[in-house]
Amino acid sequence: MPAVALQGVRRSFGDVVALDGVDLSVEQGDFVALIGPSGCGKSTLLRIIAGLDAGEGQVAVDRSSIAYVFQDAHLLPWRTVADNVALPLELRGVPDRGAVARALADVELTDAADRYPAQLSGGMRMRASIARALVTEPRLLLMDEPFAALDEITRNRLDERLRALWASRGLTVLFVTHAIFEATFLAERAIVMSKRPARILYDARIELGERTSAVRGEPAFAHEAGKILAALERGSE
Ligand SMILES: Nc1ncnc2c1ncn2[C@@H]1O[C@H](COP(=O)(O)OP(=O)(O)O)[C@@H](O)[C@H]1O
Ligand SMILES: [Mg+2]
Repeated sequence: MPAVALQGVRRSFGDVVALDGVDLSVEQGDFVALIGPSGCGKSTLLRIIAGLDAGEGQVAVDRSSIAYVFQDAHLLPWRTVADNVALPLELRGVPDRGAVARALADVELTDAADRYPAQLSGGMRMRASIARALVTEPRLLLMDEPFAALDEITRNRLDERLRALWASRGLTVLFVTHAIFEATFLAERAIVMSKRPARILYDARIELGERTSAVRGEPAFAHEAGKILAALERGSE
């Protein structure tokens, strides 16, 4: 069974048609980047998949094991990093300090466990947000431009960390971004959406080997990014 199966999904807000007949199937364990111009309906699509919004059409998603990461870290300022990460487990009534420690180690935040959000850099706050998403061991991770506000070096590092987590945890990731190089580095499959009303314009595997930081300098990387760019340009004509 696919992790996500959408058929003919449509969503409008008054006269604004955000999504118009989107078909999308995502296999378990895949890493999919969703790319499209601002305002095209990417967040709406992710919210529908998460069950945070309702569209028309068929939506089949196993929501028993899902986590969502937003562009803002949304940490509670009065809680330490560890207590923020612990929150989803507390809300489920299954506190587990071991799971918190593992999630913090996964994002290299062990040493910052007792700090407060105001004492963290933007990249660290985002890592805390990812740890909070991972602490329940979700199978499906939905990420909506999580690193868009970070500088490029920090973003590249987080992209590398996320790729490693995806590989080691066997996650299915759906990652929204409008950054072409980021999508190329991260994903196994790139989906380009048109401007509103969003349709899928391009959907292809990214043919790259191991994603070390050096891969960004390889000709194959530029080639893959170029295909995504061409599709985006077609979609904004
Ligand atoms: N709750 C809402 N009410 C009204 N319009 C909305 C709402 N959410 C999204 N939209 C509109 O739907 C379109 C797609 O929005 P969104 O999914 O946020 O785009 P993206 O994430 O690709 O930038 C935009 O025109 C946006 O203004
Ligand atoms: Mg958005």
